[in-house]
Amino acid sequence: MKNAVSWIFLLSVAVLFLNNCLNSKIHQEINQQSFISNLRKLYSSGDSSSWPKPLLDPEAKPYFSEIGHLPKMDFPADNQYSVDKANLGKILFFDPRLSVSNQIACASCHDPELGWCDNRKFSFGHDRQLGVRNAMSILNSGFAKPLFWDGRAESLEQQSQMPIEDKREMGEHIEIVAGKIAKIKGYEILFEKAFGNKTVTKDKIAKAIATFERTVRSSQSKFDQFIDGKREIYTDDEVMGLHLFRTKAQCINCHNSGYFSNNRFENIGTASLSLKDEDLGRYLITKKAEDVGKFRVPSLREVTRTQPWMHNGSFETLEEIIQFYNKGNPEPYAKRTTIHEGITLNSQKSEMLRLLELSDIEVAQLEAFLRTLTTKTERIIPPELPK
Ligand code: HEC
Ligand code: HEC
Repeated sequence: MKNAVSWIFLLSVAVLFLNNCLNSKIHQEINQQSFISNLRKLYSSGDSSSWPKPLLDPEAKPYFSEIGHLPKMDFPADNQYSVDKANLGKILFFDPRLSVSNQIACASCHDPELGWCDNRKFSFGHDRQLGVRNAMSILNSGFAKPLFWDGRAESLEQQSQMPIEDKREMGEHIEIVAGKIAKIKGYEILFEKAFGNKTVTKDKIAKAIATFERTVRSSQSKFDQFIDGKREIYTDDEVMGLHLFRTKAQCINCHNSGYFSNNRFENIGTASLSLKDEDLGRYLITKKAEDVGKFRVPSLREVTRTQPWMHNGSFETLEEIIQFYNKGNPEPYAKRTTIHEGITLNSQKSEMLRLLELSDIEVAQLEAFLRTLTTKTERIIPPELPK
């Protein structure tokens, strides 16, 4: 009898305990659900000042502006927009006669079908020579300043001459290109329309290409629609990913503004000093020790269309990248020092990177959010080239 009572007692305790567990799990889920639905409401309110505060490091604050829509494009005073100029720029962008072999156009490495880059680790240029950096997309490059991974071009106008003259890319002298284009009859009317007279100069070529590039912008992404009030367009994971991006994962320290980059140069531990693929990045331009291994923070708009990623195309999945950040980018000692032109240089990783302790679910949520920054591939019909 005594035995039976204690059995019943034990059983009731067990049932009570299990019930409690179940309840607290249900509670947790309800809490989680209302947490997400509250975030959903705030983030899709159309007013970013009502969003939860971003988690920023002190050194990020001076360069911070909230993520959101792309701003309106600014056309420089000495190169204002016109339809005819953008149209001429587009034709030049697709014209392989800008290269010494007449085979490589800007569009060969910046292909609209491939996210306006080439989806290769490194690009093939003149004579199938392999470049040393991953081609950047020209989508939204009107918002990038300065240009290139190391910032060596101040403006799109200045930038456009560089690949033409780069021996590994198009390998042609810009003055010779201007001469070649001037001999093509069909270009006369196009220069006339764009600039008021038909003389071809390298300056006009640069201005037209830059004008065209400023028109290559992302359309409304899922993210833009969500923050504008399409509340149900995001899944719960995407809502959580957006929140993590701005808070726990701290991506927003560097990838901010409507362009998802603060246009600063940062060292995230990718320079591979002393290895075969060593790249000193910004240092090569400024020669300042603190710039060793820094690269321009790339935009994350359209990120799923621009793989492989980083200046050296070394990452092939977004998950790998997020895990890399999650670990705080532990840079092996062996890769932190090099001797360059007789000077010992050290790579100093940004203090803004640290162990993030994101769970696997959070990593997946962050990735889901990044995917909402991509828009559909636009149908671009390559222009007919003048004869
Ligand atoms: C052989 C391949 C190749 C060709 C041809 C080429 N590019 Fe590039 N482009 C690249 C690579 C690689 C980079 C990144 C280089 C770096 O940062 O050092 C780049 C970077 C750029 C950028 C910088 C984008 C940013 O966000 O900073 C622009 C703009 C650009 N190219 C425009 C052009 C134009 C205009 C032409 C034609 C006149 C052209 N490219 C021809 C491979 C190419
Ligand atoms: C300290 C500044 C900083 C922080 C914080 C940061 N990034 Fe970056 N990010 C960079 C820089 C700089 C690069 C380019 C490095 C290179 O090319 O070697 C980059 C590259 C990337 C790329 C590759 C893009 C491309 O076009 O190649 C992705 C994706 C990315 N970051 C996502 C994230 C995510 C997600 C987070 C948050 C977990 C994050 N970043 C946090 C500075 C930062």
